[in-house]
Amino acid sequence: MAERKKRDFLEIPDLGAPELLALLDRAAALKAGESAGRPFAGKTLAMVFQKSSTRTRVSFEVAMYQLGGQALFLAGRDLQLGRGEPIRDTAAVLSRYVDGVVIRAFAHQEVVEFAAYASVPVINGLTDLLHPCQVLADLLTIREEFGPELRSRRIAWIGDGNNMANSWLNAAFRLGFELRLACPEGYDPNPEIFRRAAAGANVHLVRDPREAAQGAHVVTTDVWASMGQEAEAEVRAEAFRGYHVDPGLMALADACAIFLHCLPAHRGEEVAAEVIDGARSRIYQEAENRLHVQKALLLELMAPDRKETG
Ligand code: CP
Ligand code: NVA
Repeated sequence: MAERKKRDFLEIPDLGAPELLALLDRAAALKAGESAGRPFAGKTLAMVFQKSSTRTRVSFEVAMYQLGGQALFLAGRDLQLGRGEPIRDTAAVLSRYVDGVVIRAFAHQEVVEFAAYASVPVINGLTDLLHPCQVLADLLTIREEFGPELRSRRIAWIGDGNNMANSWLNAAFRLGFELRLACPEGYDPNPEIFRRAAAGANVHLVRDPREAAQGAHVVTTDVWASMGQEAEAEVRAEAFRGYHVDPGLMALADACAIFLHCLPAHRGEEVAAEVIDGARSRIYQEAENRLHVQKALLLELMAPDRKETG
């Protein structure tokens, strides 16, 4: 039998629309209590993290444990990688020990290079460019709220055109829902990712947050200074003044609108405490859903022939 080519998940379009929807269905079934058994008994997931993490780290570790395997947390600075060992050697060597890798890095290109030299599946656990696993969890949360049909949903992104905004564009590109991003000038999403999405999907970039929020089913935002941008925090605070999700902005959204935030959040900056801690917020459900979508993702990439038996 021909050897199967390993699959990575570096960006949302690495999966086709039917695969993404099937993955979300599977995540919902696992969340509802369907057992996937312990297909990863004897298997190890390496987790190479060059940035801090609470949700991504813990949800992947717990996912592996619950599926019978183990996760190996590797802080970038403790690896020889942190002393300049080439990515290609690290990727090739880790592939001889483990069955999959989650990597969180600064430059996206480093993750692309890692995946190119790894012979096991590689999952992007966040780069400066993208955060695909988070948007999978957000999509599951939206389906739980509004039903499985995503195409008729309208999503408003308020704030920085960052890794989350780019991943929302990728999700709109694949799944065809309406996405309106309100970003201040100079903080637009990645132009290539925007162009690809705008060519086929209902995607708009505006400057006025009210225009984006109008009639939205989901209002979502993120910090003004992402990891690695700490030195720009003051300049950014000035640029993002007015890109604050407060009750007034939420009032423009659909009557059933929900608020999402990938976390960590800064109350009183990108979002008012009344919103993030209010009745429309789904932030903890969203964080929990990281576990369920990542289980489905690990099963898809590391045990592709396996199906739950109910
Ligand atoms: N949302 C998210 O990725 O959180 P962590 O940085 O805590 O992993
Ligand atoms: N945009 C944020 C997301 C954190 C989960 C960052 O990159 O720091």
